Amino acid sequence: MKFFIDTANIAQIKEANDLGILDGVTTNPSLMAKEGIKGTDAIMKHYVDICNIVSGDVSAEVISTDFDGIIREGENLAALHENIVVKVPMIKDGVKAIKYFSSKGIRTNCTLIFSPGQAILAAKAGATYISPFVGRLDDISYDGMSLIAEIAQIFAVQGYQTQILAASIRNPIHIIKSAQYGAHVITSPLDSILALLKHPLTDIGLEKFLADHKKSNG
Ligand code: E4P
Repeated sequence: MKFFIDTANIAQIKEANDLGILDGVTTNPSLMAKEGIKGTDAIMKHYVDICNIVSGDVSAEVISTDFDGIIREGENLAALHENIVVKVPMIKDGVKAIKYFSSKGIRTNCTLIFSPGQAILAAKAGATYISPFVGRLDDISYDGMSLIAEIAQIFAVQGYQTQILAASIRNPIHIIKSAQYGAHVITSPLDSILALLKHPLTDIGLEKFLADHKKSNG
């Protein structure tokens, strides 16, 4: 399973990349706004800056909701860098645009997936990735992880090549369950990735090893 970081924060992207386990980055308009990146030129430059840090796919989201606008924006984004993946919302014109991009060899990430039906449509259209939002489903008392399991089962039965990118990850359990249920990729905030490192017995064990070494070596 690949690890993407879900942020537009350069320092966090560098920290995850330095860990040696980072395979890519996902962004969205809210994450860009959180970093204070405003205006088309600044937004485009920020995507290129991210691509220059990480050698892996970087999802850049369109903000148009009509077919022509999505195509125009997506083509501009894809031209920025070979690692850009055009992130397209799960709407009717988005599905048409994914089909068009797929025919042109432009890679896509279909975002805002909340049901198996939406995942099937995006896969049929040729999306490179689909992003089911686990945490936002949990927020409304639906088991977000069960959506990952359902989609993984359908994609395996149907032989779809589209990769399941578990998104809206809120904690390390979401990452572990995504791996268990067959997600190809998770995209996560840095804190949930770093939380995978932690176990109290590791800390206690290491402290004891170091203390014993000191006792016998002075
Ligand atoms: C996916 O690509 C989205 O950027 C993201 O995972 C949404 O997460 P959130 O629900 O925490 O905003």
